[in-house]
Amino acid sequence: MLVLAIETSCDDTAAAVTGDGRVLSNAVASQDEIHADYGGVVPELAARRHLETIQRVIRRALGEAEVAVSDLDAIAVTRGPGLIGSLLVGVSAAQGLALRTGLPLVGVNHLEGHALSPLVNGNLEMPFLSMVVSGGHTAVYLVSDIGEYAEVAATCEDSAGEAFDKGAKMLGLGYPGGRLIDETARGGDRGAIRFPRGRVKRDPLAFSFSGLKTALWDYLRRDDNNGSLPDICASFQEAIVEVLVRRAVTLAERLQVPRIAVAGGVAANSRLRELMTSETEEGGFEVVFPPMSLCTDNAAMIAYVATRRLECELPGEELVAVSRLPLGPRLELT
Ligand code: KG4
Ligand code: ZN
Repeated sequence: MLVLAIETSCDDTAAAVTGDGRVLSNAVASQDEIHADYGGVVPELAARRHLETIQRVIRRALGEAEVAVSDLDAIAVTRGPGLIGSLLVGVSAAQGLALRTGLPLVGVNHLEGHALSPLVNGNLEMPFLSMVVSGGHTAVYLVSDIGEYAEVAATCEDSAGEAFDKGAKMLGLGYPGGRLIDETARGGDRGAIRFPRGRVKRDPLAFSFSGLKTALWDYLRRDDNNGSLPDICASFQEAIVEVLVRRAVTLAERLQVPRIAVAGGVAANSRLRELMTSETEEGGFEVVFPPMSLCTDNAAMIAYVATRRLECELPGEELVAVSRLPLGPRLELT
């Protein structure tokens, strides 16, 4: 089954072709240089750039896969959650192509794409926990089957990616900050500064990173702050990563699901990969990370979801772009 997918939920213009769920091409046009001056994504600029780039990216995805539009079996598109202006560009492009070709069009939840992305090139038996850690989201889902998801934990404010990006901005490192903090932290001492591990009293399973951000701000304004940049980055990164790893393990134990997938842009973090692997080794957990190209936003994960849904004869999502879209109901753990 040949599927062309389009993904424009935030600031990456992406298109990909998969054959029976295997990646044949995965084209992404990054907009980082446009948003770097602002230290974050400017929605209006993102939508405009998607509009300028989308057709070229689609042609690149088809070309790299050596597939013609007439060979395709379906078109898939991210319909939410994300920036509404950005989503509308992708949805309109997909609708236009579907109208022209008569191909079926499948709307996909971006979070389902991230949650299942570790399965694209890897293998994990269900049920498993999928921790989606990106710039827009930080949540853990129980994946029981294709189309059967429940949210078991989420952030109550900032996402982990936002914490990295805002931290990097304060440190003058640039945007997007996650990769830059990751690289700068390599030579640093992660025990140099004790930054707080965020916790929410009323919901101990929720993630919270705003206190960490304030702690970094306070530290940088102190007269006696003498940590080197690598030490600050390593310590700041450790505070985020430790919380993510601990929470994933706690949830896996509570739900008795010894399989954890980590997805989203922050899953590219080298220390997260290292700590998650070492912390879960003893407990006999199976841990899967997608390759880097499937961590940050991409359309291959969207094509994969559409393929699996079509195989299972599950209905696609409604084809209306929406900025807020949950993935499954909330499962309250007692
Ligand atoms: O999944 P993604 O491309 O977009 C969203 O759906 O939000 O994630 C982008 C986020 C950014 O916040 C970026 O700083 C972060 O992923 N990121 C990283 C790394 N690479 C990207 N964070 C930590 N370490 C990295 N190596
Ligand atoms: Zn994403």
